[in-house]
Amino acid sequence: MNSPFRYAGGKFYARKLIMEHIPPNHLYYIEPFAGGASIFFAKPKVENNWLNDIDSDLANCLIIIRDRPDELIKGLSGEAATKERHGYYKNEFNPRNELEKAIRWFYLNRTSYSGIMNMQNCYWGYGDKYSMRPENWPRNITQSSRKLQGVKITSVDFEQVIREVSDNSFLFIDPPYFNADQDKFYTHAFNKEDHFRLCEVLREDNSRFNFLLTYDDGPEIRELYSWCKTILAKEWNYTINRTDDQKNGTKEKGTRYKGKEVFIMNYECSKKNGVQLDLLDYASTIDLKKV
Ligand SMILES: C[S@@+](CC[C@H](N)C(=O)[O-])C[C@H]1O[C@@H](n2cnc3c(N)ncnc32)[C@H](O)[C@@H]1O
Repeated sequence: MNSPFRYAGGKFYARKLIMEHIPPNHLYYIEPFAGGASIFFAKPKVENNWLNDIDSDLANCLIIIRDRPDELIKGLSGEAATKERHGYYKNEFNPRNELEKAIRWFYLNRTSYSGIMNMQNCYWGYGDKYSMRPENWPRNITQSSRKLQGVKITSVDFEQVIREVSDNSFLFIDPPYFNADQDKFYTHAFNKEDHFRLCEVLREDNSRFNFLLTYDDGPEIRELYSWCKTILAKEWNYTINRTDDQKNGTKEKGTRYKGKEVFIMNYECSKKNGVQLDLLDYASTIDLKKV
């Protein structure tokens, strides 16, 4: 299934490719940088799952979806997706409790350009033809809530999560990019020291668990992770059937894009898989009405 959120920097389009590199047998699945958690929602659920993100409003919205889906649905019922309501939730609505915070977060996430929730860059970006319509939000919340049952959800720094994971866990690690400036997307800055700190923590602790880390490709990242067993450059094509950028109007209907990243693993990816997957050009045309 798909994430309940639209999420900038999310791995929605790469989810099949990423899942092909995840070892099937793990009892603990952890995302220290969950965001929209598109891999968690796409993959089969294992016995123990932990989603973490430093953005406490995002984590709160996931918790409310998990624990109080009916109240969230009720709070959003009758809402129309309009620029006026977007402006109201963004600038005027003052949430008094966790439920109201989640209502605001969900409404803005579903109606903002690319789901960007850094308030300085959170603009109206909804279109009936390409966004999930409000009448479909309840179904999306209900299904997401089912998948989130029993899942641990926290909002702490990644280091605390990695230090605490159980032995034999599998971690999908998707930090902000190393070289591209993604601070405009997220509520917390992630600087070079944080990238180096992540590398150190993983290096120190990684005999206890397996991880797949995704990054923008570049010599610094390859050097930093040269101690890992597998580093694969990956590309995938995708087409967006929408005009998403209402602010600038630059993206035409059906524009083709290329995702390009490096997958870093502290385990061997079998030669057979590696060769096959390297040849794989994961091309997809996705109807964003469903996203
Ligand atoms: C690239 S996004 C993850 C996208 C996600 N994989 C998806 O598919 O939607 C990176 C996330 O890391 C979070 N983040 C930034 N700094 C963090 C930190 N120090 N500890 C934990 N999470 C952090 C951001 O809030 C953001 O949601």
